[in-house]
Amino acid sequence: MKTIGIVGAGTMGAGIAHVAAISGCRVFLHDISDEVLTKALERIETELQKGVEKTKITAEQASGARSNIQPTSTFNDFSNCEVVIEAALEDLEIKRDIFRELETACTPETIFASNTSSLSITAIAASIKSTARVVGLHFFNPPHLMKLVEVIRGNETSEHTMQRSAELVSQFGKTPVVVKDTPGFIVNRIARPFYGEALRLLGEGVASVEEIDRIVRLEGGFKMGPFELMDLIGIDVNFAVTRSMYEQTFGEPRYRPHLIQQTMVNAGMLGRKTKRGFYDYSQ
Ligand SMILES: NC(=O)c1ccc[n+]([C@@H]2O[C@H](COP(=O)([O-])OP(=O)(O)OC[C@H]3O[C@@H](n4cnc5c(N)ncnc54)[C@H](O)[C@@H]3O)[C@@H](O)[C@H]2O)c1
Repeated sequence: MKTIGIVGAGTMGAGIAHVAAISGCRVFLHDISDEVLTKALERIETELQKGVEKTKITAEQASGARSNIQPTSTFNDFSNCEVVIEAALEDLEIKRDIFRELETACTPETIFASNTSSLSITAIAASIKSTARVVGLHFFNPPHLMKLVEVIRGNETSEHTMQRSAELVSQFGKTPVVVKDTPGFIVNRIARPFYGEALRLLGEGVASVEEIDRIVRLEGGFKMGPFELMDLIGIDVNFAVTRSMYEQTFGEPRYRPHLIQQTMVNAGMLGRKTKRGFYDYSQ
């Protein structure tokens, strides 16, 4: 596959654009905010330079990837895309609106993928007529380093869509894993207690952010503790995913969000992206 559209140029959209461009695809990267698009290109540039410095990619590959990415504020260029990957906010209605617009802008052959962390692919697909072309492609953060991609089959997803999507993931140098359409799929379902229990320990004053992260890293062998990881993901994004899973499972207590998350979102402490979360990144 040669031409990819990406909707949303935040943490994940920019990261997926990076991966697709390195693999040789032409990428149209869309966002409703020009400022976000500018920042996304800057972030991709920084990562490409790091890749060259660490000899993970050559200067030619970096330069090729750079010229493969075209920022855009419309869906006009998406008519040539074989696949469009949506990475906008974790909100069902926003995603459904985007898919409706995509159905008008793209050819009937274009595959529509959502990078949702938790929402039902079947529910997203139900917003459009051609449901067989809708699939979940759940990349992990940061996409250029994380190998796994969950490929989620909605109720109506065709075999052709599943096969082409898995091929695309392999073309990106990633490992596709086929997953059923269930709230949070596999990885986010397993990860919920990781964050939830850490937040409860913090809320009860049992241990500090630093202590919990250190223990999980040292004793659990994890690369990052739960608070470091929430700061990387985005407190707003992680909160939205927890809420979505809680709502989709009719209030399953294991997925209940924590007030600490709501308070931090209210305060605009969203983690690394706002330079303030559980840790201070202003220096
Ligand atoms: N952050 C993570 O670690 C992570 C990991 C895997 C999956 N996800 C999922 O990926 C998606 C994006 O998450 P993110 O962390 O990149 O969020 P983000 O907040 O960094 O970026 C979202 C972007 O979407 C844009 N946007 C909002 N409405 C739009 C619209 N109608 N059309 C086009 N662009 C629009 C925003 O301007 C913003 O730039 C979410 O569904 C999230 O659950 C996130």
